[in-house]
Amino acid sequence: MDRLVIEGGRPLTGVATISGSKNTALPLMAAALLADGVVSLENIPALRDINTFSRVIAVTGTTVDYQLEKRIVTIDPSNLNRPEAPYELVKRMRASFYMLGALLGREGRARVSLPGGCAWGPRPVDLHLKGIEALGAEIALEQGYVVASAPGGRLPGGTFELNPSSVGATINFLLAASGARGSSCLKNAATEPDVEVFCQMLTAMGARLSGVGTRTIEIEGVDQLHATTFSNCPDRIELGTFMIAGAICGAPGSAIRFENADPTHLGECFIDVLRQTGTELTLGEHFVEVTAPEKLRPVSIETGIYPGFPTDLQAQWTVLLACTDGNAKVNETIYYDRFKHIPELRRMGINAIIVGSEVVVEGGKPIQGAQVMSTDLRASVSLVLAGLVAEGQTTVLRVYHLDRGYENLEGKLSALGAAIRREKYDEWADPA
Ligand code: EPZ
Repeated sequence: MDRLVIEGGRPLTGVATISGSKNTALPLMAAALLADGVVSLENIPALRDINTFSRVIAVTGTTVDYQLEKRIVTIDPSNLNRPEAPYELVKRMRASFYMLGALLGREGRARVSLPGGCAWGPRPVDLHLKGIEALGAEIALEQGYVVASAPGGRLPGGTFELNPSSVGATINFLLAASGARGSSCLKNAATEPDVEVFCQMLTAMGARLSGVGTRTIEIEGVDQLHATTFSNCPDRIELGTFMIAGAICGAPGSAIRFENADPTHLGECFIDVLRQTGTELTLGEHFVEVTAPEKLRPVSIETGIYPGFPTDLQAQWTVLLACTDGNAKVNETIYYDRFKHIPELRRMGINAIIVGSEVVVEGGKPIQGAQVMSTDLRASVSLVLAGLVAEGQTTVLRVYHLDRGYENLEGKLSALGAAIRREKYDEWADPA
């Protein structure tokens, strides 16, 4: 098992490159199953989740080939003969549930394991199921699997309204609707950039969509979607994470530059609140520059659906608040109890207290290095951020959580001046 060892207090400066978006790459890979030939996807990050999803897709008989040095994945569904996604893989990554919409859209049938929960609680899929039923699918739940079929072999299409707006349910609905015979309409669709870029790929494959980027998306059934080569967008959550790193430990007065970045994908709320902390931002079409202030001001945030403050950045923001000289709050409105990082941050001296859906953070306390445990992807990276500003050494255990969504994090941070290294350790030294 791997751990990261960090010597805190080093100022960051220089240039880093943002990798391709994990949460966009996954729906793009699912969409490739709808094609009549080989799909080539560019700017696909080398992450555990990409590897996991490649295995899920390969179970169907589809050929998946990832060229690491080029960050390209080619997907050929021509020999797809097993429209299934097994529990042992789906339980590793919830986004595997996108196989339901993709297989229904292509084959008119699917047998997909229900995803489990995750570190921070239940992750329902009721909206996914209601959406594909609205398209005309017949669904049965059998031994933990969703068994879905389209009467007559192809979905007729239909209309559905999401409540709440859900990224995953939007993706699954659009995957299934793209293969439907008739027209479909999704209301209160998610508008995250992941969805908009995914719709751009469907359009490039010949899908007839209108309302892309809005809350109402209409799809006109077409007989066949064709293969395409498509380039994935940069990872907005990695960008936001690095911008927060720059704010809390950038060398004062010295700009850090992030290349291959699209700041519009973060939404105005995040940009506004980060500027309110006193952090200086320069936003380019494909880059962002961050300059840390002498002293960060505390700014409370509330997570929300796009373009609100991304829930995937709330753990990182908690560490920023600990680096200010006042008190502020983080209110998590998307998920129940997405706070598994708080007990670990408290062990580093951060005074963060959970009150219902909020975390109250008292800044100005010294942050001490410690041995801490990763529990999920974004919680893990908040521990790394705390280690960067802590006094002394921090060891972050079980970084396989981190490797799900951050490509070469320690290499990028080292290049910016951080003292961070990866090392193997005996997992029995880390009793579960
Ligand atoms: C996507 O998850 C992201 N994952 C998550 O990022 C992100 O936190 C989330 O969107 C919200 O932005 C991927 O894109 C792979 P949801 P998703 O369905 O689609 C409720 C990361 O760290 N809901 O939008 O699974 C749900 O309980 C991950 O990269 C239902 O009630 O999230 C939650 O309150 C973590 N019923 C809200 O919607 C449903 O059927 C948002 O969930 C589905 C969702």
